[in-house]
This record gives sequence, structure tokens and C-alpha cells, in this order.
Amino acid sequence: MTPASLPVDPFDLVIFGGTGDLAVRKLLPALFHRFVAGQIRTGSRIIGAAREPLDDAGYRAAVRAALGNAVECAPEQRDAFLELLDYRALDARKDEGWDGLATLLGERPDNIRVFYLSTSPELYVDICQRLGRHALNQGAARVVLEKPIGRDLASANRINDDVGRVFAESQTYRIDHYLGKETVQNLLALRFGNALFEPLWNAHHIDHVQITVAETLGLGRRAGYYDRAGALRDMLQNHMLQLLCMVAMESPASLAPDAVRDEKLKVLRALKPIDASNAAQLTVRGQYRAGAADGQGVPGYLEELGEGAKSNTSTFVALKAEIGNWRWAGVPFYLRTGKRLPERVSEIVVAFKPVPHSIFGGSVGPLGQNRLVLRLQPDEGVKLWLTIKDPGPGGLRLRHVPLDMSFAEAFGVQQPDAYERLILDVVRGNPTLFMRRDEVEAAWRWADPILAAWADGGEPPRPYTAGSWGPSAAVALIERDGRTWHEDED
Ligand code: BG6
Repeated sequence: MTPASLPVDPFDLVIFGGTGDLAVRKLLPALFHRFVAGQIRTGSRIIGAAREPLDDAGYRAAVRAALGNAVECAPEQRDAFLELLDYRALDARKDEGWDGLATLLGERPDNIRVFYLSTSPELYVDICQRLGRHALNQGAARVVLEKPIGRDLASANRINDDVGRVFAESQTYRIDHYLGKETVQNLLALRFGNALFEPLWNAHHIDHVQITVAETLGLGRRAGYYDRAGALRDMLQNHMLQLLCMVAMESPASLAPDAVRDEKLKVLRALKPIDASNAAQLTVRGQYRAGAADGQGVPGYLEELGEGAKSNTSTFVALKAEIGNWRWAGVPFYLRTGKRLPERVSEIVVAFKPVPHSIFGGSVGPLGQNRLVLRLQPDEGVKLWLTIKDPGPGGLRLRHVPLDMSFAEAFGVQQPDAYERLILDVVRGNPTLFMRRDEVEAAWRWADPILAAWADGGEPPRPYTAGSWGPSAAVALIERDGRTWHEDED
């Protein structure tokens, strides 16, 4: 058994926002999977905390319904998992219920305590202060903060300061679930476990990098949150910058938490500023109008918000970033993310420079550009596009084909959801895949001037039809440089 699949020590995990979308859709199923895999022992407890007036039985019934039958397991196993669940009705801003929570936790003083704040960031400080007042921050206690932390640098600092008065930095786990995705981890293995790529991993050999995180989903149930956030705060400032850091960072000396995070921080600090002077050339933002998703007609963003709604929130962003250091000088990183795009796909494309001189005549076919494509979802895997000879007689013709490794085909296993790994990392006390405070600050320091430029520029986001690849200006952003967004050719 590898260390990562060993059972973890008994823990009490309190999920604030325990009835919310994230808890029900992601956190509880992730815990269930790890329970079925034998990593969570029966001495552990999962305590939902939220305002809904439920009791333990009501919570268990709701979680049973949400889990459904998606995971194959014996009915007794499902029952045993549900037995781990408790529920405490409480309000982050009111006193009632907190004594009860403290008493419940006091029953198992030796359990590791994890407080997962799956709530709006405005409640983080209230919750932490109450945890502090009940001395629940003592001993082996950890707090998990969901992104985005704040809505700009100033608010992130306030939250981090206030949380920091209750929990030390070493107890604070700022989660970015993209760092828990299998392919992101694999990027570490590919880059630093193979001698092949590293000599080429720089501006001399890499032409550009593309990072796409496309979703078919629209706003869903999250109007309140999303309309205040928008694509830059929701996806780009955190998930996409973290992916960029994993591609661009120098080799850390080890996988020790600070070794990795120090290197990511250097990348964030080396990002060239985008502000009012260049935002119009380097960024494109959009908002979807009515169109289609998965073959069905869907309303536009404003209709989803409600009748007569007005909003300048971007549901799509594309931008061209650059890292000002020796390794990456002059290499564009094209980033794009959006809701209601034609397909759900997240991938990183590293495009290498063309060969310096062709020995082939013009009639043999194109000399393709080598591309390393890391597919995060769906169909996690890695493709390396190479130029080869088209097999068979009849002269030499060239063909561009992928060396293709689909993880599902190669290993025949379903990849665990990112939250499964990350929640257990918190219990294990391993913060390598979590954002340190200075990383969050550096990311906001870069994102704030973009948001300010958009706000001051007064231009509304460009409309795009739901089901399209965003505004045409996003295509122009990359085509102006003589490049195109990657499309799989097979
Ligand atoms: C979340 C964002 O962090 O990530 C959502 O708030 C987004 O808007 C989600 O839908 C995407 O996650 P995944 O794992 O489905 O790509």
C-alpha cells in the first residue's frame, strides 16, 4: 500500500455550510469515496453545520439522498458512512448552537480537528472568532478556507489578518481544488521525474503556453456569489494562476510544502503587470447571451439573473500573460476560461518552437509544431504531438500524430476527485497543495489592476452566444500573434 492510501488518523471534520452546494456536491461524496476506499476509520466524525434547523437524522437522510447510488458498495458500508455524520444547526453571527458544537468536539479530544469553511468569505472571520472564543483552535486543529479569499488584495488581507488572529499560518489551509487534480500532480511528475522535458522547458524552445478551463454550465444556483465575483475572481486569480505556476516554476529542491510554494510565489511575483495602459490589448472579457448548451436552448446570463437584471460581470475572460524572468522572457501564456462554452474541457498546452530548418520539400505535408497537451478533464491524460512519417509506401509524407496516454485506459481506474486527496491532506497535515498567504496576496496584486482597468474603462463585457468559444475578440487576441487556440486534430 502506498502511504497516500493508508488510513488517516481519526478526525472530526466540521463543514460550515454543510448543507450548501459545495458540501453536498463535492465534499461529502469525496469523503464517502475515501471511506469506501478504507482510508477513513470509524472513530472519525463529519459534522455538518449550517443554519437549516435539521437534526442528525435529517442531515443523514439528506446526505443519503445526495449520495444516491453512484458509488458501488454494500448497503452496510453506506450506512456505516452515514453513521459518521452529525449535524449542528448554528449561525456564524449568532451565539446559539456553538456551545453544543464545542461539547460535541470535546467528546473526542484526541481527534484531529478540521474546520472546513464552505461558506461565503464574508463569514470566515465570524466563524473563526467564534471558534477561537470556544478554544477550538487549540491543539491539532486546522481551518480550511475556500477560494476566492476576498474580492481584492485589501479584503484578502483583512480576512487573512483576522483569521490569523485565531489560527496560525501553519494551521490554515487555503484550498484551490485544481491543485488536487490528478493531471496537475502529474505535471510535477512529468517535469521533474523525466530528464526529457526540463532542458527544453524555457523561452529558447517553447513558443507559447495555453491554459483553457471551459465549462458548459451557466450560473446555476450561484447567482448571488457569481455576480459579485465574475470569471477573473472565480477562476483566473486562483485556479488558472496556480496552473500557470505549476508550468512555469523552477524546480523546487523537494516536495516540502514551502519548497514548492516558494517557487510558485516567485512566478506570481514575476508576472508582468496588466493595467489601464495595456488591458485593452491583453485582455478580453465576455458575457453570454442566450444560445445552446449540450444541444438544449439556454437563456443568457442576464435572464438567468432575473427579469430586468443589469450586470457587467464577465462570464468569460481571455488574456495574454507574460512572466518577466530569464526562463520565460517573451513566451506568451494565453489563458481563457468561461461559462457556457461548447464543451467542458480543462487543458494545458505547451507549444514548442518549430524546427529551425526543414529538410523536406513542400509536398510532404505540414511540419507540425510539437505540443505537449495535459488534459485535466474530462479524460485525464497526456498527449505529445509529434511529426512522423505517414506509414506505408508511396514516398515520404509527414503526419502530425499524438503519443496519447489516457490515464483511464492506461490504468483502468477512475481518478479520484481532487477534493478526496485534498481533504485527507489536511487531516494528514500536509499543506504542499494549498496556497500560502503570500501566494494569495501576490495573485491579487496582479489581478487587482486588471479589475480596476475594466471598471475604469467603462466598457461592458462583450456578448457571446452560449455554446460558442466566447467573443470573437478572444480568437483575435491569439491570432494577432500568428497563433491559434489548440484544437485536438483527431
Ligand atoms: C469552482 C468555481 O472553484 O470551480 C466554479 O467557483 C467552477 O465556478 C468550478 O464551476 C470548476 O471546477 P471543476 O473541478 O468542475 O473544473
